[in-house]
Amino acid sequence: MEKNAEKKRIVLVPFPLQGHITPMMQLGQALNLKGFSITVALGDSNRVSSTQHFPGFQFVTIPETIPLSQHEALGVVEFVVTLNKTSETSFKDCIAHLLLQHGNDIACIIYDELMYFSEATAKDLRIPSVIFTTGSATNHVCSCILSKLNAEKFLIDMEDPEVQNKVVENLHPLKYKDLPTSGMGPLERFLEICAEVVNKRTASAVIINTSSCLESSSLSWLKQELSIPVYPLGPLHITTSANFSLLEEDRNCIEWLNKQKPRSVIYISVGSIAHMETKEVLEMAWGLYNSNQRFLWVIRPGTESMPVEVSKIVSERGCIVKWAPQNEVLVHPAVGGFWSHCGWNSTLESIVEGVPMICRPFNGEQKLNAMYIESVWRVGVLLQGEVERGGVERAVKRLIVDDEGVGMRERALVLKEKLNASVRSGGSSYNALDELVHYLEAEYI
Ligand code: UDX
Repeated sequence: MEKNAEKKRIVLVPFPLQGHITPMMQLGQALNLKGFSITVALGDSNRVSSTQHFPGFQFVTIPETIPLSQHEALGVVEFVVTLNKTSETSFKDCIAHLLLQHGNDIACIIYDELMYFSEATAKDLRIPSVIFTTGSATNHVCSCILSKLNAEKFLIDMEDPEVQNKVVENLHPLKYKDLPTSGMGPLERFLEICAEVVNKRTASAVIINTSSCLESSSLSWLKQELSIPVYPLGPLHITTSANFSLLEEDRNCIEWLNKQKPRSVIYISVGSIAHMETKEVLEMAWGLYNSNQRFLWVIRPGTESMPVEVSKIVSERGCIVKWAPQNEVLVHPAVGGFWSHCGWNSTLESIVEGVPMICRPFNGEQKLNAMYIESVWRVGVLLQGEVERGGVERAVKRLIVDDEGVGMRERALVLKEKLNASVRSGGSSYNALDELVHYLEAEYI
C-alpha cells in the first residue's frame, strides 16, 4: 500500500447507466486496493441502494438532478445535456458537504466524461480532477475529430463515397464513415456533446478502460493530441471483482450451461439499454433453431416481447434469462460464441475470455467497436442489414461450426493472453495504474 495514498479519499462520479457504472466501480476498487478511500456520488438515489458488494465505500446522492427514468424519453444526447445543466449546483453542495465531513482529505474527483459538470466544482473548490473515459480510446479519438467538424458540411461531405471511404489521417483503418454518429440524434446536438466531452477544462489527466495491445495507434494519437497525461489501465474487470449489477442476475443459466457440450452455446445479450424489435427476435430465434446450436438469451424485463412460436423453440434448444452473470457465462467452457451489441464492456469481456463474437451493433460507438472486432482484431463477424433467419444461421455456423470460427477463436485467445499480460506486474496497464496512483499522491501533496 502506498504510504501517501493511505486514507486519502477519491470521489467518483459515474454516469448512471450500467455500462458506465460498472467500469467506474472497478476503477474505485482498483484504487481502493492501492490504499485510497472511495466515495461514490450518484445522481439517482435508487442506484445508491445497489451497494452491497462495496462495504468499504461511501455512497452519496447528488440531489435534485434529472431522474434516470427520463433517459428513454429524452434519448441519450438530450439526457446528457439536461443532466449536466441540472446537476452543477447540487453537486457543488454535495462536495462541500463531503469536505466538511472528511476535512480536506479529498485527493481527487474522478468523473465519467459524460458528467462534465463535475469540473466546475473541482475547480471552484480547488480539488484536482481526472476524467474517466469508460469507452474505447478510438471512440475518444472520434469525439475529438467530431468536435471540430461543422455538422452541415460534414453531412454534405458524407454523401460523397470518396469522403466516406477516406482514412482518417494517421488513424488507419478508421474511415470517415466509421465516425460514430448514427443513432445519436441530430448531428449538430451530438457534436455539441463531443465538444463538451473533449474539452478537458482544468482536469489534469484522462483514464481510459483499454489496453495498449488493443488500441496502440489511437492511444498514441491521444497522447499527442491531449496536453494532459493519458492512463490506459484496462481492462479493469480482469483484476477487480466489482459487481454493481442493477438487475438481479439469474444464476440458473449456469446450471443449464453445465449440461451443454463444450463450445456449443451461443450467448446472446444486447447490454443494458438496447432492445430489439419483435420481428427481429422471431427471425433470430428461427435462425438459431435452424443452426442446430444451443443458445442462452438475455431478454431484459420490459424489452423485446417473445412471440409464442419463439417460446416453443426456446424451450427445446435454448435458455432465456432476464439478466445473466455475464462474466461467468463467458468464461464457461460450454460457450462457443457471443451475439453482442458490441458495447465496450461486453467487447472487452468477450475478448478477455477468448470468445468470438457475432456483432449486431445498434448505434454509433457500438458500430465502431464492431468494425474493430471484425476488421482489426478479426475475432468476430458483423451482421449487417435486416436480421433474417438465413443470415443468422450462416453467422452462427461461421462462428461455431466452420474453420473460420476456429481462426477467430485462436486470435481471440492470443489477445486474451496479451490482455492478461498487460494487467500483470510490468505490463502496460499495470504500469499505467501505478503511474496514476503516483500522480494522485503527488497531486495531493
Ligand atoms: C452502454 C453503451 O450502450 C455502450 O455502447 C457503451 O460502451 C457503454 O455504455 P451497455 O449497452 O449496457 O453500455 O453495454 P456494455 O458496455 O456491454 O455493458 C453492459 C454490461 O452489463 C457489461 O458489463 C455486462 O457484463 C453486463 N451484463 C449484460 C450483465 O452483467 N448481464 C447481462 O445479462 C447483460
